[in-house]
Amino acid sequence: QTIRRADYQPLAWTVTDVDLHFALDPAATLVRSRLTLKRNPRAPAGPLVLLGDELELVSLQIDGRTPAAARITDTRIEVDLDGDTATADIVTRIAPAKNTALSGLYTSRGGFFTQCEAEGFRRITWFPDRPDAMARYTVTLEADKASYPVLLSNGNLVGHGELADGRHFARWQDPFPKPSYLFALVAADLAVNERRITTMSGREVLLQIWTETAALERTGHAMESLVRAIRWDEERFGLELDLERFMIVAVSDFNMGAMENKGLNIFNSKLLLATPDTATDVDYESIEAVVAHEYFHNWTGNRVTCRDWFQLTLKEGLTVFRDQEFTADMLAAEGGDSARAVKRIDDVRVLRAAQFPEDAGPMAHPIRPDSYQEINNFYTATVYEKGAEVIRMLQTLLGRDGFRKGMDLYFARHDGQAVTCDDFVAAMADANGRDLTQFLRWYSRPGTPRLSASGRYDAAAQTYTLTLAQRSAGAADEALLIPVAVGLLGADGRDLPLTLAGATAPGTRLLELDAAEQTWTFTGVAERPVLSLLRGFSAPVIADLDEDDATLAFRMAHDGDPFNRWDAAQRFMERTVLGLAADAAAGRPLATPEAFVAAFGALLADDALDPAFHAQALALPGESYLLERMTPADPAALRTALMHLLRDLGKRFAADWLDRHLDCRVAGDYRYHPRDVGLRALGNLCLRYLCAAGELAGFAAAERQFAQAGNMSERLGALGALVHSAAPQRDSALAAFHAHYATDTLVLDKWFALQAGAWRWDPAAAPTLARVRQLLAHPAFAATNPNKVYALLGGYFRANPGEFHSPDGHAFWAEQIVALNAINPQVAARMARALERWRSFTPALQASMRRALETVAASEGLSPDVAEIVGKALA
Ligand code: ARG
Ligand code: ZN
Repeated sequence: QTIRRADYQPLAWTVTDVDLHFALDPAATLVRSRLTLKRNPRAPAGPLVLLGDELELVSLQIDGRTPAAARITDTRIEVDLDGDTATADIVTRIAPAKNTALSGLYTSRGGFFTQCEAEGFRRITWFPDRPDAMARYTVTLEADKASYPVLLSNGNLVGHGELADGRHFARWQDPFPKPSYLFALVAADLAVNERRITTMSGREVLLQIWTETAALERTGHAMESLVRAIRWDEERFGLELDLERFMIVAVSDFNMGAMENKGLNIFNSKLLLATPDTATDVDYESIEAVVAHEYFHNWTGNRVTCRDWFQLTLKEGLTVFRDQEFTADMLAAEGGDSARAVKRIDDVRVLRAAQFPEDAGPMAHPIRPDSYQEINNFYTATVYEKGAEVIRMLQTLLGRDGFRKGMDLYFARHDGQAVTCDDFVAAMADANGRDLTQFLRWYSRPGTPRLSASGRYDAAAQTYTLTLAQRSAGAADEALLIPVAVGLLGADGRDLPLTLAGATAPGTRLLELDAAEQTWTFTGVAERPVLSLLRGFSAPVIADLDEDDATLAFRMAHDGDPFNRWDAAQRFMERTVLGLAADAAAGRPLATPEAFVAAFGALLADDALDPAFHAQALALPGESYLLERMTPADPAALRTALMHLLRDLGKRFAADWLDRHLDCRVAGDYRYHPRDVGLRALGNLCLRYLCAAGELAGFAAAERQFAQAGNMSERLGALGALVHSAAPQRDSALAAFHAHYATDTLVLDKWFALQAGAWRWDPAAAPTLARVRQLLAHPAFAATNPNKVYALLGGYFRANPGEFHSPDGHAFWAEQIVALNAINPQVAARMARALERWRSFTPALQASMRRALETVAASEGLSPDVAEIVGKALA
């Protein structure tokens, strides 16, 4: 069933107040709900509509009486009401322990937790469960005190006490009206790390992080991150914490990363808990970013929320943009502009690896979709990451100050409301006196636009004429407004000053491309320049540059924009890998082009580079991104090419890799600091190349680092290098890692993922699938735990295309999707997406992919989540 954006209707009846009472019991929880209802004067007349999902309705009363003519189905109650106000009393029974979908109220390791976004609240009680139904909540929790000593919900604690039979209760009141997707409760045996701080207006607030007692010592980094996020939002956007207390709770079973429930964020424990011994530098960075992301939602999402789920990017694109800016500022404070550039590179890597393929496949959608079957399938890289790029373009076009003015106006106009993306863009436009009508097309355009450039230098006139052209699939007549940052490089590698219409800028200039094709003429250009296009990745487009090897090598060595310098290296690598893959597919011998080897060698030898940037510049593009750039996609040939290149570069520069690895050693205690993080990343990359090349000195260095590691980044970096090689130490290192962390379920996820993602460097070794099957039966694996599924099956389906794509792999996929579908549709649908791009593969693979998709499509009891993915793939 398809839901359409165009069909939006305001609610006929709104809820002003909700009074909830939970008698918590894992097998049978009784939920009593009292709704205070008001007829909506701004909507056409209609019945009260309540939605439900897997609920047992015990009783329903309107104004104290059972309604005579309620229309009741499994998922919907409709009642015609007289007058302008009414009270509904609803009693519902649910079974949290049976809720393996982890949506609504469920149990995890002996506690109760909730996840309501997007449509989980209707799995708790009957309700107009949509984001424009904003109400004030009072919540009473009642449970056995010994098993559930901690009882939490949104807002302020207004009462608590003992009850008969060893039970106790707590009552919470949230002063802010909110949509039901922001409701949360927790009842569990937890310990707390707390801190008091004073906000910018001088109010004292209580910050709490709740976890199982054993994990309490792992909450320090998250607490520091929260305090930094609160300060940053005050300084950058003038936004203050509006609550007396702000709580975060860790849970082991969770479908996504984390959830911004008002005043009670719930986090997947992998995105909250860290110690140097259990978390990598990347984990530290993710935790800081996600803690900030959920905190930032308190304004962008909670105070101002979405009118309907088609507007999801209103809060997600904007909040991802805010967390990206936060992380960039945090990194820059300690690591300078180079650290900021590395963050930008990271973000673009994610966009290219996840969003570009999505936008070129059957799930392609605009950042504001026009329709969906299952909203949970639209928490996508497009809505989040491309959505953030669209917001970033607004800031680029309006400037930081202009963007801030727009944000101020947005909150002044819409605080407490459920609004649309148009409202957001209108605030940006009005605050800056600028017409952004054309810019709005970004919200309705699916697919990645392509940008091409051609330049002409006139030596006599000393002019450089640049023509830019844009193209979007299927929308030729409606040009987008694309901010394009450009620079021109002189022969010495320096930026030339840029003069346009008499005005000169020192290095980079922003051009606004708002037509299909447009031309600019730079004057006073004293020499033939090299173009540096789309600096800082100023728009989420594919730039088709047709540069020769020499130009790429030149920009790789000199581009004054660090992002573009990295990008030039990526382009040269991509060209090289894809050329090798074509040779591999055709059965030709593989030989790395010498021009590339020389450029790579020069980059490796550049001692002036900051280590974090150096590691980014020397790392090959991601396999999923490369697969997307290959027609037809041939994962085996691509894998052969990647292995050849890693081996070849590892061997040719073995002495340099080893030297550099040694130079990267970090002395002293672990610090999460950009300098140290960069050194570890570069040191680990050196090990990767050395081990891929089969260098004995590399194996020895990796083994040494693994044994002596002072933190998880070093330990996992060394283990990863050994596993991604034919090192004889491979299996013993994996066993040692397992023995060391046998009882640490979060760390074991890394162990599962590493093995599922392993390449086969020894052609005589068994396919990775055999190991994945063994690991499915490992006592630490649980198909009910999303992190385990993402690590093992995601590590294989998503992160290991070279091994996965085979008839056996595809048959295994079908079997696993059917099994997961019965446990957890959201998790199953995420894994199901691994085959959606099947039409772009080689004919032989298409056949087994299609068979696997058809097997799943024909299976019984298919959830709407999985049905939408396989249905769209096969359509
Ligand atoms: N709003 C959450 C976040 O970005 C994501 C929750 C999505 N959950 C879901 N089941 N679709 O921060
Ligand atoms: Zn979010």
